[in-house]
Amino acid sequence: MSEILVLYYSRYGATTRLAHQAARGVEQVSGMHARIRRIPALPDAHGAVPEIAHDAPPVVQPQDFEECSGLLLGSPTYFGGMAAAVKHLLDDTSRQWFKGTLSGKPAGVFTSTGSMHGGQETVLLSMIVPLLHHGMLIVGIPYSEPALAHTQTGGTPYGASHTTGNNRPLSMEERQLTQALGQRVAETAQKLLLPST
Ligand SMILES: Cc1cc2nc3c(=O)[nH]c(=O)nc-3n(C[C@H](O)[C@H](O)[C@H](O)COP(=O)(O)O)c2cc1C
Repeated sequence: MSEILVLYYSRYGATTRLAHQAARGVEQVSGMHARIRRIPALPDAHGAVPEIAHDAPPVVQPQDFEECSGLLLGSPTYFGGMAAAVKHLLDDTSRQWFKGTLSGKPAGVFTSTGSMHGGQETVLLSMIVPLLHHGMLIVGIPYSEPALAHTQTGGTPYGASHTTGNNRPLSMEERQLTQALGQRVAETAQKLLLPST
């Protein structure tokens, strides 16, 4: 069984919901399993650390990067970019960068925003950049996914997304496209793992 690391930060739960949809997509691929891990919260500017939900998955550990065959990385959108906690974790992966731990593995990204035009594309593209430095093979969402052409909510070619608005649940298109991304990353990892003939 090969595993895809579904790694995310979430303060209020919207990005967590996307992570679970991405994991469902991974599990649709026979022989592939989603390993869900969270990125821990940072202290705020005054030193207070936000509370964590009881059902939160384990905090990511260095061996998770070693043991995964691919990565799905999620962050809320904060001022058009990734949350500081996500950047903080990425800035702590120089050992993996030196070793090439993630090089050649597929990756996809996902985000949630408060508003429809609040920066989904900018944050997704900015999350892809450090993954390219790691040598990861970026997987997006193609327009052959029908929901991408008609979504009135989240979903982009650069990665999966969700617009929370006023506590809006995931739309059908957001669920479909996030699962599609998870499935594509898992299928790509599986193809890369197959011995060449
Ligand atoms: C510090 C901060 C900055 C934010 N910046 C944006 C933003 O630039 N655009 C946007 O649409 N929403 C913004 N939001 C809203 C969050 O992206 C949105 O609520 C997101 O769904 C939260 O994800 P979570 O529920 O996983 O914590 C911001 C929220 C916070 C706390």
